[in-house]
Amino acid sequence: MFKAFFILLFLHGLVLNTFSSSSSEEEDDDGSSKKESEEHPLKGHGVHWGYEDQAAWSSEYSHCSGKSQSPINIDSRRAVYDPKMPPITLEGYDLTGDDSALTLLNNGHTLQLSLPNTMHIVSGFDSEYRAAQLHFHWGTKEVPGSEHTIDNVHFPAEIHVVHYNSKYADLSKAANQSDGLVVLGGFIGIGLHENDNYEKILAALTDVSTEESNTEIPGFNVRHLLPNNLKRFYRYNGSLTTPPCFQTVNWTMFNDTITVSRRQLAALEETLKAGRQQHLNKNFRTPQLLHGRQVFASFTDMPTGAGRGRLGGFVPSPGSSDFLSRGDILAIAFGALFAVTLLLFLLFAYLQHKKYSKIREDLRQNVIYKPATKEES
Ligand SMILES: *[C@@H]1O[C@H](CO)[C@@H](O)[C@H](O)[C@H]1NC(C)=O
Ligand SMILES: *[C@@H]1O[C@H](CO)[C@@H](O)[C@H](O)[C@H]1NC(C)=O
Ligand SMILES: *[C@@H]1O[C@H](CO)[C@@H](O)[C@H](O)[C@H]1NC(C)=O
Ligand SMILES: *[C@@H]1O[C@H](CO)[C@@H](O)[C@H](O)[C@H]1NC(C)=O
Ligand SMILES: [Zn+2]
Repeated sequence: MFKAFFILLFLHGLVLNTFSSSSSEEEDDDGSSKKESEEHPLKGHGVHWGYEDQAAWSSEYSHCSGKSQSPINIDSRRAVYDPKMPPITLEGYDLTGDDSALTLLNNGHTLQLSLPNTMHIVSGFDSEYRAAQLHFHWGTKEVPGSEHTIDNVHFPAEIHVVHYNSKYADLSKAANQSDGLVVLGGFIGIGLHENDNYEKILAALTDVSTEESNTEIPGFNVRHLLPNNLKRFYRYNGSLTTPPCFQTVNWTMFNDTITVSRRQLAALEETLKAGRQQHLNKNFRTPQLLHGRQVFASFTDMPTGAGRGRLGGFVPSPGSSDFLSRGDILAIAFGALFAVTLLLFLLFAYLQHKKYSKIREDLRQNVIYKPATKEES
């Protein structure tokens, strides 16, 4: 009885701890990159920025130390479900049989494919956004290299499809406008099969192995580089993840992931060079502080449209009632269990007390007491 009580008490404490720590845990710092700034003192203008000295970016590009930087860690339990976010519709993404080929470039920071502005996002945002280019971020065999993280976990790689607001002339004009850019991002993981769509790009890797080299590849359906399901996504206001770090990106990170084969990922990680000898890899920026920004989710895992996220994070629309997240329900269940256990314990203690006062009375009356039952320890 006592044992069971203490086990329950322990469980209860554990659960409360888990929930309170999850709600009080604040944005993580990027101390590692701060340390690097000491090893890489401020370099002069005109020196190329690199991923080794990320903390130094802001000395030359002031926006990089802003309060709406990207990438970020996406805490899936804290994302606020927003059922009103319009679904994303793409047009002109199928470039199969297009006359004009696409230019694939190794720019020393990434592998980039130029896209025609006939490719665009027709709905999902307040304006129409035209495609300009797509590129990737990756790591090594040992270090997963996605820029965004989900619950502090990196994926092996990430794709970014960069779009600019069609009210501006081109990407460079739009880049420093507050409503200038939209990036559609997808997490790339490892699957059992070759990804034939990614192979359209990866097959040309050896042609762009040196920095600043480029090649032409035939048009294909670019839609197939993104996840199948575009309805489930995270949304937040952020920035370019490379200098000049303009805070002008309306970010969409899809929840559904893309897979390529181990061999395909290895080709991306090992083929390209930056500079003379250096491998072009680990081209991802450290997740940045949220500074109070909210991440929204277009989806929820609750079956009946219940809100997800931390308590109070979900703003009910007029006429709808408050919903409880899975965490809240668990907390309430354990709370109830604890209360019941406590009551049972008090009852037990009371009965014991009664029994022993009876024994004392019996002893006083010189009656030899014989226990009827053996108590469990
Ligand atoms: C991003 O797009 C959403 C949906 O159209 C919009 O509500 C939000 O204001 C946009 N963010 C910015 C910074 O423009
Ligand atoms: C954007 O940059 C251009 C120069 O490239 C400048 O003329 C313009 O004022 C900038 N706009 C904003 C909103 O910073
Ligand atoms: C982004 O910023 C715009 C205006 O600056 C705001 O209306 C919108 O709610 C923000 N969106 C998110 C997802 O924080
Ligand atoms: C997708 O959403 C689920 C449910 O919130 C979450 O557990 C998972 O980590 C998400 N994955 C990605 C890649 O966003
Ligand atoms: Zn990027």
